[in-house]
Amino acid sequence: MTEQKRVILVTGANKGIGFEVVKKFLQESSSKTNNNDVILLGSRNIKRGEDAIQQLGCPSNVHLLQLDTSSKESIILATNEIKQKYNGHLDILINNAGIVPREDSIEAAKSTLATNYYGVKMVNEHLIPLLHENGRVINVASTVGSMGLYICSKELQKRYTSSTLTIEELDHLVEDFLSAFESHNLEHMGYPSELPFKAYSVSKAALIALTRIEAREYSHKKNISIYAVCPGFCATDLNNNAAGARSASLGADSILYMINTPTNELENGGFYRDGEKLSQICDDDAAVRAYIEHSKKLVEKIQ
Ligand SMILES: NC(=O)c1ccc[n+]([C@@H]2O[C@H](COP(=O)([O-])OP(=O)(O)OC[C@H]3O[C@@H](n4cnc5c(N)ncnc54)[C@H](OP(=O)(O)O)[C@@H]3O)[C@@H](O)[C@H]2O)c1
Repeated sequence: MTEQKRVILVTGANKGIGFEVVKKFLQESSSKTNNNDVILLGSRNIKRGEDAIQQLGCPSNVHLLQLDTSSKESIILATNEIKQKYNGHLDILINNAGIVPREDSIEAAKSTLATNYYGVKMVNEHLIPLLHENGRVINVASTVGSMGLYICSKELQKRYTSSTLTIEELDHLVEDFLSAFESHNLEHMGYPSELPFKAYSVSKAALIALTRIEAREYSHKKNISIYAVCPGFCATDLNNNAAGARSASLGADSILYMINTPTNELENGGFYRDGEKLSQICDDDAAVRAYIEHSKKLVEKIQ
């Protein structure tokens, strides 16, 4: 049976987990009869994107889409390209592009939030309107967000997880975090000094919260499903290929699971890893303590 062709965009797909996601979509697509999903490999840098496509053997259904997710101009150009070249058709959007700050500075914190939170928000604002009926969006988050929230103040926990939280209120939370970071006032705001990778942690906690809001806002329009997914701790350039981490391919499986599982088995707006639903605030004290210890060594290697 011939199945419907899908148009799939993976951001930040020139390497790491995003590249593995593209590879898996490609494998899936070639195993179907007479089906060639169109896969848009997002890359902020053209050369790195072209090299990635070369590594895949230049398949005819994988196309480069230049997209810097932290730039509104770049997002508008990419949106127009999808409208012109692919009839404004999009079925699956994987917001994978992400960064970890390499230093403990306000500039690094701002660019981390610009890509990991504001960037995903902007991409979704522009591209979700192009999604077809039953389209799916994956916001690639991290348990670093839910474990970080566990050690934040009760007041912050309440605000991030409020069922009535709006995007404007979430933007304020993120802006207040950045102001407090700049004025060295984070503890007073409820972000403890032991919070590892502060800006990264807040960016992913905010992304998990954003996913719930987006699911509320968009699902009734075209039956669109939006999920936050943690790929698990994977050895990639993000963490200088940390020893003992799982493969990026396994991380990609965690993402693909959310595309291939029927929506009635998933909670729209939910946060998942390896197909398992996770809570917005991690509830495993021992896991959080182990993570804080482990992060101390990781911070030294990364920053
Ligand atoms: N690795 C892990 O253990 C882990 C765990 C949990 C969650 N995650 C999340 O998984 C996602 C992928 O991470 P990864 O481990 O595969 O990292 P990676 O190997 O460093 O790859 C990150 C990708 O994102 C791209 N990127 C960064 N900023 C961008 C921007 N502004 N616009 C467009 N692309 C941008 C990078 O492009 P360049 O090559 O141009 O830099 C690269 O293609 C991230 O969202 C990360 O937070 C990773």
